[in-house]
Amino acid sequence: MTILVTGGAGFIGSNFVLDWLRASDEPVINLDKLTYAGNRQNLTSLDGDARHTFVHGDFGDAALVDQLLATHQPRAVLNFAAESHVDRSISGPGEFIQTNIVGTFNLLEAVRAYWGGLEATSKAAFRFLHVSTDEVYGSLSKTDPAFTEVHRYEPNSPYSASKAASDHLVRAYHHTYGLPVLTTNCSNNYGPFHFPEKLIPLMIVNAQAGKALPVYGDGQQIRDWLYVTDHCSAIRRVLEAGRLGEVYNVGGWNEKPNLEIVHTVCALLDELKPRSDGKPYQDQITYVTDRPGHDRRYAIDARKLEIELGWTPAETFETGIRKTVQWYLDNPDWVANVLSGGYRDWVAQQYGN
Ligand code: NAD
Ligand code: TYD
Repeated sequence: MTILVTGGAGFIGSNFVLDWLRASDEPVINLDKLTYAGNRQNLTSLDGDARHTFVHGDFGDAALVDQLLATHQPRAVLNFAAESHVDRSISGPGEFIQTNIVGTFNLLEAVRAYWGGLEATSKAAFRFLHVSTDEVYGSLSKTDPAFTEVHRYEPNSPYSASKAASDHLVRAYHHTYGLPVLTTNCSNNYGPFHFPEKLIPLMIVNAQAGKALPVYGDGQQIRDWLYVTDHCSAIRRVLEAGRLGEVYNVGGWNEKPNLEIVHTVCALLDELKPRSDGKPYQDQITYVTDRPGHDRRYAIDARKLEIELGWTPAETFETGIRKTVQWYLDNPDWVANVLSGGYRDWVAQQYGN
């Protein structure tokens, strides 16, 4: 048996592939375009491991995906590939439409054709798992109940709108064609290999570089934070036992305002790698102009996943954030390569241009 993962060189995808192969010997075909967010170095520990086949390519390339499906005959396709950064979606929405909507559509078409040709047992066992976000549900007030799976879709950024569109396509392929799909909508992840354009890694990296720690607006926007390997275990569980066509919200019951997150990161750095001048890292906090259309609060009600499938997160925020800060301190080469763009050299060396 084999699974095909798209976007497996990104933050969550690479953690998923590493976790998967720690827990099982089932091979993974990893299809990734290696955009700026894809980093082959996340997977160097798998070099020479026959269970991992990396394919540099676009998940929207129908001919390539047809060929991969025909050759490897996966029993499941897990779709992580996406453009994922809200701020980039505001300055350049086009790529989000192309990747998240058109790319997912092309992938669904290829998977539908493959699945349609499988013999009855393989056809019944096949799964298409789509990895999505809580941002499709829009923004909550402080007192609103957390998002459940039946919350109305109210996306507010080009990123969340494009993810919402992809979720709808996945749903439609189940209802119209019977494709055996599963969708997960998860809250904000953090952990190793997180690209330092997102809040937590940006703060860790900027703090050490003596740079400003930019907090948007009043810093009181609330997110639910989940350690990345807990997201990976949720995906594995949904793949294993999720009911076809169902959506599962994934979250850590861990709502925190951004400013509190930044203070926590600063306090951990004060403890683990104090500034040479003895001053606290929080002195570097700078309030900057707010993000346009900034969602005020996300909160996930993960009870369906917990009750139906028995999933619970293994990390608390306290254990997860400590591990995360420590990982960045222990991996200065990874950080330096990302900051210098050095990780892109591998793409040029390997594939030209
Ligand atoms: P990421 O930006 O770190 O990684 C995305 C990966 O997809 C990269 O490796 C990139 O090279 C690849 N990719 C982009 N376009 C591609 C294409 N056309 N073909 C093949 N590969 C392509 O993103 P992430 O944070 O790892 O998120 C993974 C998925 O999880 C996304 O679908 C995202 O919407 C979802 N998600 C993310 C979070 C979060 O907090 N990061 C939370 C919930 C859901
Ligand atoms: P981010 O990590 O970009 O994730 P998302 O927008 O998908 O939730 O941002 C998390 C929160 O942190 C969000 O409310 C925006 C805020 N933020 C800052 O205040 N400063 C920053 O430099 C960044 C990148 C984000």
